[in-house]
Amino acid sequence: MKQGFEKYQPFQPVNLPDRKWPNHVIEKAPIWCSVDLRDGNQALVNPMNLDEKLLFFKTLVDIGFKEIEVGFPSASETEYEILRALIDRNLIPDDVTIQVLVQAREHLIRKTFEAIRGAKNVIIHFYNSTSTLQRKVVFRTDMQGVVDIAVEGARLIRQLTEAEVAKSGANIRYEYSPESFSGTEMDNAVLICQRVLEELGATPEKKVILNLPNTVEMSTPNTHADQIEYFCRHLKGRDSAIISLHPHNDRGTATAATELGLMAGADRVEGTLFGNGERTGNADIMNVAMNMYSQGIDPKLDFSNMKKIREVYESCTEMKVGERHPYAGELVFTAFSGSHQDAIKKGLDYSKEHDSEYWEIPYLPLDPADVGRDYEPIIRINSQSGKGGAAFIMQQNFGYQLPKGMQPEFGATVKAACDAAGREIQPDEIFALFEKEYLLLRKPYHLKSYKLNEENDVDAHTVVHFEGNLRFHHEDHTIQGNGNGPIDAFFNALRTIGVTDYQFNSYQEHAVSLGADSKAISYIQLSAPDGSAVYGVGLDHNISLASIKGIICAINRWENQHQASI
Ligand code: KIV
Ligand code: ZN
Repeated sequence: MKQGFEKYQPFQPVNLPDRKWPNHVIEKAPIWCSVDLRDGNQALVNPMNLDEKLLFFKTLVDIGFKEIEVGFPSASETEYEILRALIDRNLIPDDVTIQVLVQAREHLIRKTFEAIRGAKNVIIHFYNSTSTLQRKVVFRTDMQGVVDIAVEGARLIRQLTEAEVAKSGANIRYEYSPESFSGTEMDNAVLICQRVLEELGATPEKKVILNLPNTVEMSTPNTHADQIEYFCRHLKGRDSAIISLHPHNDRGTATAATELGLMAGADRVEGTLFGNGERTGNADIMNVAMNMYSQGIDPKLDFSNMKKIREVYESCTEMKVGERHPYAGELVFTAFSGSHQDAIKKGLDYSKEHDSEYWEIPYLPLDPADVGRDYEPIIRINSQSGKGGAAFIMQQNFGYQLPKGMQPEFGATVKAACDAAGREIQPDEIFALFEKEYLLLRKPYHLKSYKLNEENDVDAHTVVHFEGNLRFHHEDHTIQGNGNGPIDAFFNALRTIGVTDYQFNSYQEHAVSLGADSKAISYIQLSAPDGSAVYGVGLDHNISLASIKGIICAINRWENQHQASI
């Protein structure tokens, strides 16, 4: 045998130069069929037990699946019992069809019909492998041998169905899979499926599902789409068939193969939640459905309770949904990068200001609320995060609207803390940094008490008088000053003790609710003695005192940074 990559042969694509599918767009949801309880279950280290399967089945029904493959009842006693439990306990809603899988072999087909007795709506899904490779190495037979197996299986299934329908009135439909369809010569795939349609008596009124499995994904998704378009174009009686996709994910492109397959003419998709299934898994129906949703198409499946669905999936299958799994992973709505955080924040602000009709948020293709997530974890803070991120957390989690000019200095404080900790820091830690940096500073100046009086002079000008007890240099001082407002009066009082080098630049305030309580917060920007800008923050029930505290905070911050000896 050749060595390394040379021992592999390139996939031979179907010849379809006039392909039409690239010009098509997906405009509506296909028929969905979940194969979690069969294909998914048969790939688990520990297959689900009865209770787990029943819980999973209920979850699939709640999501909105109308066709659910429940197992392979002829292959194992457990699967047989599970199917019986669903039927005997009346757990299958009338608008849900259960699907059972069986190989095209007589004794297995007969056992399957026993297993479905009493069910109202059933799809009998039979299959045999048709691929060039399997014919050569597994069955050592020619195409005719494979066609015979399928046709004989179809004949028996039709007979047993007609008998069962006559007896019980059950609604039984047929599905045939040429297993390894994508590894089969297309003309052979068309031929065998046509023979099966004839044998089953398919008509446009009584369509048969032809499921075309990409049993092992071996080519780029466009090649798969070519196969689907070729098949649909060449099948006589196309209107008597529902064309179903069953992609697997060996090359990691099952979602793309499903989407291109739909563009190429398929009507139905078989797959699993989160792409569980043999080897690398089946097509991830949640992913395909949410891709439609985020293009403005109703997928007819409801993933608004993603957390619960994920929990059921993880507990029943013992598999994990990865943190970066599309739409469902823990981290998929989180931005650590500063520029992304900034753009998300601006997008959210823009949306609010303009009362936008559509979701237009950079870096977030989906509104997290649509899958039951909230905004809180969108922005998480690590050393990669920027000024906007910390400001977002302060606003989103605590209602503090930091002025734009102040965001870089607080952002730098938070970044330094992340670097020091060497890890992500949580909202509560960010708040503690804010408190330490702004709200809890008591040195070198600390206002212990104060009085503000307001008078009108003879010309009806307002004069505000400030008097307060200010502690500095370990001593209490009474200071006084007049001004045209509380800030002016306080500045004038400071001048009496020689604090003259600070200029008032700007002021912003808003109310902040703290539980049932509400306080005013003011952000003050001063020019420091060296001309640089410094921010201070004051929080108080009294709006004037909030401003005065903000001024003291700004002075304390500058003094602490520049006069370490104080
Ligand atoms: O992947 C596959 O080919 C299958 C068939 C049995 C439908 O699961
Ligand atoms: Zn499969």
